[in-house]
Amino acid sequence: TAVSTDSDGEDIYTGRVKSTSAEEVAMLMDGARRVVIVPGYGMAVAQAQYAVQDLSNILESKGITVEFGIHQVAGRMPGHMNVLLAEAKIPYDRLKDTDEINSTFRQTDLVLIIGANDVVNPLARESDPSIPIAGMPILNADQAHSVVIIKRSLGPGFAGIANPLFAADNAMMLFGDAKKVIIDLVVSLKSS
Ligand code: TAP
Repeated sequence: TAVSTDSDGEDIYTGRVKSTSAEEVAMLMDGARRVVIVPGYGMAVAQAQYAVQDLSNILESKGITVEFGIHQVAGRMPGHMNVLLAEAKIPYDRLKDTDEINSTFRQTDLVLIIGANDVVNPLARESDPSIPIAGMPILNADQAHSVVIIKRSLGPGFAGIANPLFAADNAMMLFGDAKKVIIDLVVSLKSS
């Protein structure tokens, strides 16, 4: 494969990663008709599910459709994301599995990835056996018009490999702890 899978990912990230702010993402969201949220292990670590509920509610109050793309192995246990989102009273019918949501990303204005990494890693599409997630179905978040990724660093997830999505032209990193960043996003959306 032409892209490095080193966990530091230096050659695929250097000079290609754009970072953004809560204010900028709030503006992007204000212009969106539909937002897909993709949660992962980092949402669980940050206990960000209640902040995510606030975010979902404010987006809907602005007439923006919100759906959740739930990968089968997101997090660290079966149903991890479903349990957390149910706890925060996110309506079950907003949660879409990989098969259901994947055909919609090309028509999606903005995908907000919250502490997910491996489940959106386009390297999974490669057949190179040295890539631990090769062949795993992923959420095709990279196909959306804009992709915003919330995590604290460019560090890898469970599989220990770099993620070329973080360096994609349509992607922006919103660095920070998921709960804190989402609270900032809600504040920005309230004042916009
Ligand atoms: P991961 O690929 O593990 O990535 C999680 C990301 O969350 C990390 O890259 C980390 O980046 C970020 N993060 C951690 N703490 C955070 C915080 N406080 N705020 C914001 N971001 C934070 O997660 P995934 O996409 O959910 O994939 C799950 C992985 O676990 C898969 O490889 C899967 O095979 C494996 N696994 C799943 C299960 C089940 S059943 N769900 C069981 C065992 C293994 P930073 O460090 O940069 O913040």
